[in-house]
Amino acid sequence: MSTETVSTEASVARRRTGERMRRRSSGALAAVVAVGAITGVALLLEPHVDSVSLLMLYLIVVLPVAVIWGTALAVGTSLLSVAVYTILFAPPQEALHIVDAQKAVALGVFLITAVVVGSLASRLQRTASISRRLTEEQSALRRVATLVARSVSPPEVFEAVTREVGLLCGADLARMERYEVDGTVTGVAAWTRVPVHLTVGTRIELDGLSVAREIRQTGQPVRLASFWGETGAIAREARQLGIRSSVGCPIVVSGRIWGVIAASTKSTERFPDDTEAQIANFTELVATAIENAEARAELRASRARIVATADRTRRRIERDLHDGAQQQLVSLALQVRAVQALIPAESAEASGELDRIATGLSEALDELREMARGIHPAVLAELGLVAALKALARRSPQTIDLDLRTNGRLPEAIEVGAYYVVAEALANTAKHASDAAVTVSVESRDDELRIAVHDDGAGGADFTRGTGLAGLKDRVEALGGRIFLHSPPGDGTTVRVRFPLAGPAG
Ligand SMILES: Nc1ncnc2c1ncn2[C@@H]1O[C@H](COP(=O)(O)OP(=O)(O)OP(=O)(O)O)[C@@H](O)[C@H]1O
Ligand SMILES: [Mg+2]
Repeated sequence: MSTETVSTEASVARRRTGERMRRRSSGALAAVVAVGAITGVALLLEPHVDSVSLLMLYLIVVLPVAVIWGTALAVGTSLLSVAVYTILFAPPQEALHIVDAQKAVALGVFLITAVVVGSLASRLQRTASISRRLTEEQSALRRVATLVARSVSPPEVFEAVTREVGLLCGADLARMERYEVDGTVTGVAAWTRVPVHLTVGTRIELDGLSVAREIRQTGQPVRLASFWGETGAIAREARQLGIRSSVGCPIVVSGRIWGVIAASTKSTERFPDDTEAQIANFTELVATAIENAEARAELRASRARIVATADRTRRRIERDLHDGAQQQLVSLALQVRAVQALIPAESAEASGELDRIATGLSEALDELREMARGIHPAVLAELGLVAALKALARRSPQTIDLDLRTNGRLPEAIEVGAYYVVAEALANTAKHASDAAVTVSVESRDDELRIAVHDDGAGGADFTRGTGLAGLKDRVEALGGRIFLHSPPGDGTTVRVRFPLAGPAG
């Protein structure tokens, strides 16, 4: 640690001692004023009230002093009260002799009562404030835990945690930062007691004193007593904002230090000793939110890989069929027709036989083409989603009411996904609602592709009763989309899908 830091720490310690002294003297002054005021009241009441009761009036001062400034000042106030009372209302007739035994006992009882009640009151006040803090902490943790359990996006959790930490620690500013591989940090959330512009989302160098730099070096919670005279972007910003001290904790995700949460204050009073423990409770929730989001992203990526691999295989089979078997069948059919042309007219039987072979070949070719289309429609890759959906509707045994509102080509994965959604939904209407009227609408709006396939058939569709709808769910979610199935018995079926056109988020 630099000598400069040591000297600033010494000056901070001096400042704190000064602050404590000021607090005590203002308490003492308030106690003296209050004792004076009560004495005034006692003087007014003296003709009407017996002097022992007047003594009890001073308890009215001792109690609030104990609650606000603690036991020591309460004891001082009790002694001052006894002194004032003795001088004014029970003056000794001879030096150091109190007027009568009754008053002496009363004074003794008063002193003991004042000290006991005063220390009880101050302890009660401390217990109440600890339990208030605990309750606040529990509710803050519960609020964040609820967000984590609801799997809201990590940025929402970051923002909520930063706010809760700031409020709970009585800070003026709270920040959450993520370590980057290049040694910088990115601010991911910030909260301030009074609105101040803070940079979030940009990378910051760790070139000077900062909570993030210290935590990266030690892996432990840190306290910084002052940014005075320190270099670096973070220290500079802290000084500009009037920050005097900070306390921060690491956020550890799956064994690595992912980032930090720090609370900062403009006050000269240090954060309470349990602040690190308080912040640490939140870092665990943040880590859980990040781990969950990473697990979800991994799952989505692995689903997307499976779907993409299956699609590639289907496309390869379609190409192999097209370039191999289909071409062979076409050329065989041509050869048969050529041979047929060479056969003399009198060999009608042979010619008829060849004709049947040629027809069989062309039927086999049609069947093969149909199969290839089912495996992966070439028109989708060549002409895009709209053309492929029109072809799909034409081939359907039902009349399909098509409403296609999308222009130009969409990302390939989305086109393929959308095609299979409509293909499976139409296969289902043909299989399970053959007499129904069917509408298909596809629209790209608000950075989403929205698909709806509706029939007015018997309803009752269910993801769990076959592989078609369940496969769609996998495919849609792998692309970051959502699928909704509405199929009440007797009231038709609607399959709705939304794909984000920008692809799956983080
Ligand atoms: N449009 C629909 N109208 C009525 N019932 C439907 C409709 N679509 C699906 N279903 C019901 O939901 C079930 C699940 O559909 P799903 O597509 O998953 O399976 P499937 O069509 O039976 O078989 P496959 O796995 O070959 O697609 C179907 O078995 C059927 O009972
Ligand atoms: Mg099906």
